[in-house]
This record gives sequence, structure tokens and C-alpha cells, in this order.
Amino acid sequence: MPLALLSLFDIVKSQACTPNTWLNLTALPAPRQEHSTVAINDTTIAIVGGIIPIGDAPETTDIMQFYDISSDTWLNATPAPYKVNNPNVAVVEGKIYLLGGLIDGPELPDGSTNWVASGECYVYDPTADVWTALEPMPNGTERGSAHSGVHGEMIYLAGGATMLQNLYQDSVTMVTAFNTTSGSWQRLPPAAAGIPASRRGGVGSIVGDTFYVIGGRWFGQLNVTSTVFMLHLNDQAAGWKTSPDHMPVPRGGLSGDVVGSIVYTFGGEGNPNTLTGVFNETEAFDTTTQQWTKLVPMAVPRQGTHAVAVGNKVYIPGGGLQQDGKSVVVNNVTLYENLSSHFDAYCV
Ligand SMILES: *[C@@H]1O[C@H](CO)[C@@H](O)[C@H](O)[C@H]1NC(C)=O
Ligand SMILES: *[C@@H]1O[C@H](CO)[C@@H](O)[C@H](O)[C@H]1NC(C)=O
Ligand SMILES: *[C@@H]1O[C@H](CO)[C@@H](O)[C@H](O)[C@H]1NC(C)=O
Ligand SMILES: *[C@@H]1O[C@H](CO)[C@@H](O)[C@H](O)[C@H]1NC(C)=O
Ligand SMILES: *[C@@H]1O[C@H](CO)[C@@H](O)[C@H](O)[C@H]1NC(C)=O
Ligand SMILES: *[C@@H]1O[C@H](CO)[C@@H](O)[C@H](O)[C@H]1NC(C)=O
Ligand SMILES: *[C@@H]1O[C@H](CO)[C@@H](O)[C@H](O)[C@H]1NC(C)=O
Ligand SMILES: *[C@@H]1O[C@H](CO)[C@@H](O)[C@H](O)[C@H]1NC(C)=O
Repeated sequence: MPLALLSLFDIVKSQACTPNTWLNLTALPAPRQEHSTVAINDTTIAIVGGIIPIGDAPETTDIMQFYDISSDTWLNATPAPYKVNNPNVAVVEGKIYLLGGLIDGPELPDGSTNWVASGECYVYDPTADVWTALEPMPNGTERGSAHSGVHGEMIYLAGGATMLQNLYQDSVTMVTAFNTTSGSWQRLPPAAAGIPASRRGGVGSIVGDTFYVIGGRWFGQLNVTSTVFMLHLNDQAAGWKTSPDHMPVPRGGLSGDVVGSIVYTFGGEGNPNTLTGVFNETEAFDTTTQQWTKLVPMAVPRQGTHAVAVGNKVYIPGGGLQQDGKSVVVNNVTLYENLSSHFDAYCV
């Protein structure tokens, strides 16, 4: 076909990407982790919230950045209405929904991290470039780090966390749903309103009509899990099921997304076998056969980031190079965290 007849979209989709290889992309404008990553459309990825280094210590941010896939470039977008890390973010019909997350809580006597839940909700319309307030999360359901999925007009949030301190980090079971048509939160049948065990920082994915919650941890970072929880969204009264097929390597703080019927999962933290505490695993779950496959490990192993799939690539911006809070000596300096600006994609 003559080039002139190919749309930009076709060219982007056909960009060379050898299956099962890692592709380095333009680094983020600043090191960053604990953000959320979504695709607005087939050409634009957005990262929302998280923490970025300000002086010596990372701080919770409201910065939103767009990545243009065709030109491999980043640009600053209109900031989120509040500073938030581990935000619950989803795209429905080209609009970005920011549904709560973790925010800086009251300062602790020793000045250590104290993140608490926020239930503030907003929607961003890229065409109008405006954030608009939505109904907040119902009292008692405020949280961040939930596993999210989009099913038609609905955004589902499963599990998550209501707080994070150095020595205490909770995880919850609750499942809630936001209806983007009515602009309101909806109740789920009791059997669907809780995952079988509390989780934070796993991978949430809706494939067809089934919502999957994969891996993640409960409470402390070393309490990593390998479970696959499943809910048929068209038969919610039947409740959550646990797949007999576990992830090959239990992990928390991992990232992932779905391409076709396969959920790809990457990295994470809570690894007792590496100096950094980070996992390098790339493992794929085929939802049709319920089988796991181990794939090419991450070239730059990371945790605490969020992945998004567009076409045949899974994009993974930033993240942490080590387990947060663990003492790791790098170049004779002891680090307790190490935020990365590295940006790459896994070619499926
Ligand atoms: C990708 O980036 C990482 C981190 O900067 C680097 O270590 C690696 O060599 C790069 N890979 C390629 C193929 O350029
Ligand atoms: C995707 O969204 C971005 C940001 O709103 C916009 O600039 C771009 O034109 C959109 N691309 C397509 C193909 O709609
Ligand atoms: C939210 O729930 C808490 C605990 O049950 C209660 O103390 C508080 O009054 C509630 N707030 C609102 C706005 O309903
Ligand atoms: C979402 O809200 C609309 C408008 O109230 C309603 O018609 C629709 O049934 C709701 N969707 C679901 C899945 O409950
Ligand atoms: C798991 O979480 C519990 C509850 O916070 C904690 O007491 C325990 O130390 C954790 N274990 C590991 C291995 O992280
Ligand atoms: C991945 O990490 C494991 C330790 O968890 C290590 O044994 C292995 O060599 C690593 N693989 C690569 C390709 O770096
Ligand atoms: C590492 O740091 C210590 C303390 O600052 C110093 O005494 C030592 O010489 C350093 N070692 C190297 C190899 O730089
Ligand atoms: C983070 O880790 C990388 C890789 O080990 C290292 O090159 C870098 O210097 C570390 N960052 C800081 C701030 O020390």
C-alpha cells in the first residue's frame, strides 16, 4: 500500500517491535513512582499523581504528564486537582477518572511517611482540558492502590489500601463501582462486594466480562501473594472465585495489563532473594486456558509503577529500583528508596 494511504495510526500500530523484547523509550521528565498510568486513546498515554523527588525526599505530586506514542515524547498536562499517590485512575470514553487515592496525612512526630486515604473524585476531559469534581467515594470506602477495571460505563475498584506508614501498611477487601453515566457510586451484591482476601498493589484487569485481581500483597511488603481472584461481572451474585492456577512467583507492588486475552505482569517488590528486594519477573496469564507462562525478565526491574497496554506493547513508566524502606547500598551510599525515570515497553 502506498505510504500516503496509511494513516498515522496504521504506522504507529505497525512500528517494529520484536515479540518478547524490551524497548527503551524516552525517559520520564523526572523520576517517579506510585503513579497511575492510562491510555486516553491509541496515541496518548497519561501518568497521574505519584511521588517525585523534591530536594532530598520524594513528595506526593499532582503532576499529570502525557506521552505521545508516535513521537516518543513527554509533555506536561494540566495538573490533577490535588496531590495524590497510588491514585485509582481509569479511562472511559476518552475521559480520565481519578477516583481517590492516598494523600499526605498529618505529620508524624518523627517526620516519617504518613499517607492516608482520600475519597475525592474528578474527571478530566482532554478536549476541554478541564477537571470536574464528581461524587466522592462513599464514606468508609476511601482508598488508594485499588485494582481497577473498566467494563462498559462502569469502573470497578477491588481491594487497595487506606494508609501507609513505615511500620504499618494496611490492605482491604472491599469492591466498589462507579457508574460514569449516572456519575454515582453503586452498591454491588454482597458476594461481589469483597475479594476473598485483602490485597494492595497487585494487577487488576477486566478481560471480556471477567474482573481479575492478580497477586499483590497483604499488609507488610514481604507478605507477597500469587492468587488470581475472578468475578464474572454479568453474574455478580455468583461472587468471587479463586483460580486454581497461581502466579509462578508471588509478588507485591507489581504492574501489568492485558493484551487480547493474556494478562502480562511485571516486577514488584518483597523479594527476599535480591539485594534490592525487587523482582524482575515477567509472567503472563492466559485467561482462556488459565495457564501461566514465564517470559523475558524486565531489563530494568522495578516496582511501584503502573503499566498500560496499547497495541502490542505494554508501557511501563518509572517505578522504584528497590523495595521502599529497605536499606540498599548503591555506590557506597545507603538508600531507602530509589525512584526511576526509566521508561520502557514490553513487546508482546
Ligand atoms: C535501556 O536502558 C537501560 C537503563 O538506562 C540500560 O541499562 C540498557 O542498556 C538500555 N538498553 C538498550 C538496549 O539500550
Ligand atoms: C488522543 O488524545 C490526545 C490528548 O487529548 C489528543 O491530543 C490526540 O489528538 C488524540 N488522538 C486521537 C487519535 O484521537
Ligand atoms: C463517616 O463514617 C464515620 C465512621 O463511621 C463517622 O464517624 C462519620 O460521621 C461519617 N461521615 C459522614 C460524612 O457521614
Ligand atoms: C448506570 O447508570 C445509568 C443511569 O442511571 C443506568 O441506566 C445504568 O443501568 C447504570 N449501569 C449499571 C451497569 O448499573
Ligand atoms: C505480614 O503482615 C503482618 C501484619 O502486618 C505482619 O505482622 C507481618 O510481619 C508481615 N509478614 C511479612 C513476611 O511481611
Ligand atoms: C532475575 O532475578 C533472579 C533473582 O530473583 C536472578 O536469579 C536472575 O538472574 C535474574 N534474571 C535476569 C535476566 O536478570
Ligand atoms: C565508603 O564510605 C565510607 C564512609 O563514608 C568510607 O569510609 C569508605 O572509604 C567508602 N568506601 C569507598 C570504596 O568509597
Ligand atoms: C539508583 O540506583 C541506580 C542503579 O543501581 C544507581 O545508578 C543510582 O545512582 C541510584 N540513585 C541514587 C539517587 O543513588
